[in-house]
Amino acid sequence: METMRSANAHVFNHDADAADYDNDVRNEADPIRAGYRNLLGWVVQQANITPTSRVLELGSGTGNLSALITDCRELVSVDVSENMEAIAKLKLRHLTHRRFIKADILEVFAQELGNFDAVISTYTVHHLTDEEKQQLFALVFAKLLPGGRAVFGDLMVLNNSDKEEKIQQYLANGDRATAQAISEEFFWSLDFAISVLERLGFRVSTARFSDLSYGVVAQKAPSVYQH
Ligand SMILES: C[S@@+](CC[C@H](N)C(=O)[O-])C[C@H]1O[C@@H](n2cnc3c(N)ncnc32)[C@H](O)[C@@H]1O
Repeated sequence: METMRSANAHVFNHDADAADYDNDVRNEADPIRAGYRNLLGWVVQQANITPTSRVLELGSGTGNLSALITDCRELVSVDVSENMEAIAKLKLRHLTHRRFIKADILEVFAQELGNFDAVISTYTVHHLTDEEKQQLFALVFAKLLPGGRAVFGDLMVLNNSDKEEKIQQYLANGDRATAQAISEEFFWSLDFAISVLERLGFRVSTARFSDLSYGVVAQKAPSVYQH
């Protein structure tokens, strides 16, 4: 498959937000941030990471997700933002075999990355268009070892009509910022994502964390030849 760069990486590069990011995510009264802490904990737990795991993290930001990994054989973290990474690396000294790659999360798959036991990502894939999400899921599937898991936590709606309802609901409550985020960013459509992931061969399960946040586990079948 031809690898491409996501169209909006320059728009969603968080360099300018890095200094305030960790303060912002603490405000779980904001509907965009509600459930943040619980969702990150759930993603790491569902990824079944052990001291022998190779882990790929897409959109590592200020390191809040990977800071929850106690140990792994190797962590490869990818983000376009150097300023977010400057904060992340201070939190992740315990993960001695960590490599940061400054790259777009689609384009990075053109590099020699090897295979992974787990792929994790929070609050990043909603920066990709639906077409780009499909490409990403296929690239992730190809890089996962048999039995491996991709675990995502992100901003999602169920489908297009749920999206429209939520935009109207937030507008009616006077929350224009959240309504605008739902209409201008690329919140996952959960129904669409599940069907794409299942078509690729993943077994999928989901959990809900707030009005706008969900977790998705996509597991690749174990190899029949494995002993
Ligand atoms: C909202 S933050 C989430 C950070 C972290 N995963 C968390 O849960 O706190 C999104 C991160 O994705 C990065 N990002 C956005 N689009 C990207 C892309 N196409 N490729 C690589 N990184 C991207 C941003 O720079 C930012 O650090």
